[in-house]
Amino acid sequence: MKKWNVAAVRAAKGKEKLGCCTAYDSCFARLADEAGVPIILVGDSQGMNCLGYETTLPVNMSDTLAAVAAVARGAKDAMVVGDMPFGSYQCGDDEAVRNAVAIIKAGADAVKLEGGASVCGLIRRLTTAGIPVLAHIGMMPTFVNEYGGFKKQGKTREAADQVIADAKAVEEAGAFAVTLECIPSDLAAEITAALKIVTVGIGAGPVCDAQWLVMHDLLGLNEKVPSFVKKYADLASIVRGAFAAYVREVAEGEFPKA
Ligand code: KIV
Repeated sequence: MKKWNVAAVRAAKGKEKLGCCTAYDSCFARLADEAGVPIILVGDSQGMNCLGYETTLPVNMSDTLAAVAAVARGAKDAMVVGDMPFGSYQCGDDEAVRNAVAIIKAGADAVKLEGGASVCGLIRRLTTAGIPVLAHIGMMPTFVNEYGGFKKQGKTREAADQVIADAKAVEEAGAFAVTLECIPSDLAAEITAALKIVTVGIGAGPVCDAQWLVMHDLLGLNEKVPSFVKKYADLASIVRGAFAAYVREVAEGEFPKA
């Protein structure tokens, strides 16, 4: 299998739809990689899925670096994208570049960051320094306090025009792909048609060039999932059942055998 890189992702536009997902450790990264997932995102959603937080906001650089290094050790052919956590690029562009460099040194092939026109100066600096950037617009989870919850964005004509302007701005700044999170599917379709770069939708309908699913949602490790999610397995009940069987067999002297 080929190693997925920026050129391969760019070349997929209009030819091949890409099913991409998150992972946060080496074991699941290896399994996703072996299954042919082209892009593995070490999302700041590790805050909710692995670290027990309510939002992505508490995730810090050391959480990200440890997870990126683990995923990079597990993935062979997939492109590994490290999500820049809240606070790592809101602190001035010099510090942001240092943090992006650290994520690449930990093993990521690219970084992802949230924001449209407001982060284009940073996207330009990163791409000029050889750090590929996957942008993220629409519903941006680090703005949860601004939104008052994880709410669909781009619903009015004015808001939709803002998302379109952000999409064009991040493309022009050098991003090789852009995440469109939780926006109406006709808006995502309009953006996908207008851009030369790959759009990666999540809760943004079927027309995007690629899709993200959070690994814990896709595998059914999370029992409560957003309405746009399809669970491809029901691991929560399988895992719970396995733990319970083990506890019961030890209690009953069934395991280990003499
Ligand atoms: O952190 C994450 O999982 C993400 C996805 C929603 C794309 O940013």
